[in-house]
Amino acid sequence: MVNISKVIKKGLLARERLVLALDVDGLKSAEELVNKLKDYVGIFKVGSQLFTSEGIKVIDMVNQKGGKVFLDLKFHDIPNTVKGAAESATKLGIYMFNIHASGGYEMMKAAADAAREISVKLNIKKPLVLGVTILTSINQKVLEKEIGVNKNVKEHVVHLAKLAKSAGLDGVVASPQEIKGIRAGCGDDFIILTPGVRPAGEELNDQKRVMTPKQALEQGADFIVIGRPIRNAKNPVKAAKNILEEMEEY
Ligand code: C5P
Repeated sequence: MVNISKVIKKGLLARERLVLALDVDGLKSAEELVNKLKDYVGIFKVGSQLFTSEGIKVIDMVNQKGGKVFLDLKFHDIPNTVKGAAESATKLGIYMFNIHASGGYEMMKAAADAAREISVKLNIKKPLVLGVTILTSINQKVLEKEIGVNKNVKEHVVHLAKLAKSAGLDGVVASPQEIKGIRAGCGDDFIILTPGVRPAGEELNDQKRVMTPKQALEQGADFIVIGRPIRNAKNPVKAAKNILEEMEEY
């Protein structure tokens, strides 16, 4: 039986570590999911599809229902533009947002500084700012032949994570396979959020290298992102409860 008040990691409950990807196309479908799952999922991830079609209405809806928002727009631009985007994101009262670590030190620092300064100015809690290291859709061949980086993927991920930390970011988004290296390189307080998580026996969909929720926590993940295994389940509440139960075993 799931015990939704059990603290599992760094003082947080399992559901505060569980992020549901709201990969749907409209406000109505998003709202239905939030209504159904808000007692079992702490954070709702709003990505570019939903945000581009519905804008800040989605963020207000999640916030009003007591959920936290992870704004997954992966900003990547010149430092001044990303600074502006980070200011706007912070003003929305979200829990976390992300930027591409490949945008470099100056760009990341501009975002981290902007989030801090605006939160102080508005007297709101600073959103966590996470760096996207290398997308899991990019493999060794693409990294070398297309992007022109002649480095091992895992090494490059750790390099970018360290750069993100030095620029003042709170953590990174990374695949479950990369957690250990990042933890070793960036320490215990650095946040690691990982997608590519599948409960045992679930369909992998297009995810290739997956871990179960418990394995991801054991490797050192702080937050896990899960979409289809909950959204597409016959009974999404039961699916979420099963995941929490597994996380609580950690
Ligand atoms: O449905 P599923 O559990 O695969 O959803 C995972 C979510 O995490 C999706 O929103 C996907 O875009 C996101 N994500 C990912 N891999 C990355 C970065 C983000 O699966 N490397």
